[in-house]
Amino acid sequence: MAMIAHKCPQYRVTVVDTNPERITAWNSDTLPIYEPGLDEIVKKIRGRNLFFSTQIEQGIKEASIIFVSVNTPIKTFGTGVGMAADLQYWEKTARQIREASQSQKIIVEKSTLPVKTALAMERILTATANEVHFDILSNPEFMAEGTGIKDLETPDRVLIGSRETPEGIKARDELVEIYANWVPRERIITSNIWSSELSKLVSNAFLAQRISSINAISSLCEKTEADITEVARAVGMDSRLGDKFLNASVGFGGSCFKKDLLNLVYLCRQYGLKEVADYWDGVVRINDYQKERFILNMLGAMFNTLAGKRICLFGFAFKADTGDTRESPAIYVSRRIVEERAELVITDPRALANAEADLADIQGAVAFVEDPCEAAAGCDAIAVMTEWDIYATLDFKKIYETMRKPAYIFDGRNILAHEDLFKIGFNVFPVGKPPLTHF
Ligand code: UGA
Repeated sequence: MAMIAHKCPQYRVTVVDTNPERITAWNSDTLPIYEPGLDEIVKKIRGRNLFFSTQIEQGIKEASIIFVSVNTPIKTFGTGVGMAADLQYWEKTARQIREASQSQKIIVEKSTLPVKTALAMERILTATANEVHFDILSNPEFMAEGTGIKDLETPDRVLIGSRETPEGIKARDELVEIYANWVPRERIITSNIWSSELSKLVSNAFLAQRISSINAISSLCEKTEADITEVARAVGMDSRLGDKFLNASVGFGGSCFKKDLLNLVYLCRQYGLKEVADYWDGVVRINDYQKERFILNMLGAMFNTLAGKRICLFGFAFKADTGDTRESPAIYVSRRIVEERAELVITDPRALANAEADLADIQGAVAFVEDPCEAAAGCDAIAVMTEWDIYATLDFKKIYETMRKPAYIFDGRNILAHEDLFKIGFNVFPVGKPPLTHF
């Protein structure tokens, strides 16, 4: 919404939320999320044509276009528990829009939702005698965290799904006009609503599948002494495949990939497509396997016991340049390390507050330290969880001196200079490459 307000000064954008603290934060000097470049934009246009408010009803009444971006977490109860999207917030919002609306509106589905949710939305909105006309559009968001501003400014594509009726197409064209203020027309594509909803789930599923594919091969590399970086390079140079998203890692995290994959799996099962469901479920299973494999490698390297050892996690965010820790592999790794009765130290330049909240139930066993060098002091091992640039530039000679010996580095992101670390004295365990050990 900040980007729309920024690129289209002729529109007035109001963001409403039920949570007053969040809105206060959006109106303050410290925004509630960290995203490079966002601060500058929000501070420039806030109060001009971008507003943050808790006045939801008023916001609905005044708007001619409403983007619905409520959360759609995985169900924690009932049918579809652990797999299907929990649409209660979504449905509540639809009812609220219906009740407060006094004039015709375009409703844009922005949250990622299972296919056919727009239909449910349409039914709710038209279920009473209220004369107001609503058009429902699907406009999934493809930006990634950490690169959000760039992704929004120069998107690969903008997708808008609509009913293929004259009203639906008219509504769609209005949204196309908004994006056309800064996105080249050929990058704004349209489709029917269901294709649009499905394209979002499938895009994320394909991206996650690529990571699980390279991670699956990383385990084979570790057995065969092939090097995953060399394999990824050779594979990625095939222009049909491309070289992006082939970084082996401790596993993918984030609020989207797992949720969307599970949604897709659930959807396939609902339609009786068991084989298809199992295929996509495999992407999630390989990701879980990769996280556990990381711990097993650690155990194997450290004489099969972590008990009483002190282990430092470099990074807790699910990726660099964000403070977001949702579904971060670091959460799983932390819990397993504590389960193995090791002492755990966590450092991260942006995500420590979230890390503390995520591990609230085991906080007694964990220390949170801002400075990575201080965090590593006295530890037996460092495990890199997030690919923050700063970690590659630390003085590892100094760090080595302050650590217990033998000292280990488990590079879950393959971002460090492994040979150099080995020469300093570390035993180095990258992902998908032969380890460098002094034993
Ligand atoms: C993802 C998609 O990339 C966006 O297109 C999509 O809009 C977004 O989900 C969403 O549905 O909202 P995001 O989760 O923010 O974006 O971040 P990604 O860059 O996709 O990274 C996801 C995870 O995969 C991270 O944990 C990252 O470290 C990991 N990853 C990524 C790898 O392990 N290896 C890679 O080569 C790339």
